[in-house]
Amino acid sequence: MKNIKTLFVFLLPLAVGLILASSCASSKITMKSGAQLWGENCVRCHATPSPSAYNDIDWETIGLHMRIRANLTAEETNKIVEFLQSAN
Ligand code: HEC
Repeated sequence: MKNIKTLFVFLLPLAVGLILASSCASSKITMKSGAQLWGENCVRCHATPSPSAYNDIDWETIGLHMRIRANLTAEETNKIVEFLQSAN
């Protein structure tokens, strides 16, 4: 009986730690806003294009095109495109 209790005392913080660590790791990218992702990724190769430089339809196309160049996930690209469309 005493051993099981000791085991539990050791395992509980470990389990909680693992859950916290894994949730932090997976939300690292998804926590970023479209504006943040835009500022971090789109300036790597050229000056950041102003959101008002293109209309909503153009941004959809540019997003797909630049997604491949910038090596972004679909989620990151969607966030950037949504930000650009909301700010133009
Ligand atoms: C790996 C380099 C690279 C990254 C990262 C990159 N671009 Fe580009 N971008 C280019 C190059 C090269 C061109 C010009 C040639 C072309 O259009 O393919 C370009 C052109 C553009 C143009 C002009 C298109 C036109 O027809 O005038 C826009 C707008 C643009 N990029 C937006 C973005 C956005 C938004 C991001 C972030 C999601 C981004 N780019 C990330 C390389 C990059």
